Amino acid sequence: MRDLSKELLDWYDVHARAMPWRTPPADKRAGVRPDPYAVWLSEVMLQQTTVAAVTAYFNRFTMRWPTVADLAAAEDGDVMAEWAGLGYYARARNLLKCARAVVAEHGGAFPADHAALLMLPGIGPYTAAALSSIAFDLPHAVLDGNVERVMARIYDEHTPLPAAKPILMTHAEALTPDARPGDYAQAVMDLGATICTPKSPACGICPWSDPCLARQRGTAPELPRKTPK
Ligand code: ADE
Repeated sequence: MRDLSKELLDWYDVHARAMPWRTPPADKRAGVRPDPYAVWLSEVMLQQTTVAAVTAYFNRFTMRWPTVADLAAAEDGDVMAEWAGLGYYARARNLLKCARAVVAEHGGAFPADHAALLMLPGIGPYTAAALSSIAFDLPHAVLDGNVERVMARIYDEHTPLPAAKPILMTHAEALTPDARPGDYAQAVMDLGATICTPKSPACGICPWSDPCLARQRGTAPELPRKTPK
């Protein structure tokens, strides 16, 4: 059996995009783990907002509030003002609620436990899986729009979204490795953002080109299908 996750991790080790919340390769080799606060903050900001737009906000937030306890102690109005321009203001209100719950209920440290993360305000299945895998190295699968597209293509899944979600989640879970699940999750997201793009995917340079059923059958540009609104 070929090891698809290992092949993608080998690609990620060379091609990972640098982002301020990611651990640089040299630190990673030295065993430095990501800061759960940085992972959480970035994942909340990245919901419905691009990496390019989030970077400046992330840097300003972490300069002003370097820890989750600092953020929990912030004035609501200051946080809302820093958030201005990112949109979806419910996210900012939940951000503060969550920071305060982490301090009140977990002594200022995000719990390294998927079920406990899910109980926190504003943390849904996507953020809980992202934190579990990226911050704590627990094998939970993330399923965002990029991952849905990659899974639909690898398995040539023609069931339209949203009905396809549970099928694509099953594939995403089956592929998630026990070793380096956080790097793997970010590798699939990077693959979807840079190579397995909605239009004109760059199959010629894709590390999963060989096993990809949609590439073999020429269906990649049509996938994932969507139920018309
Ligand atoms: N989109 C959301 N979270 C991401 C991450 N950690 N890496 C790349 N793209 C993302």
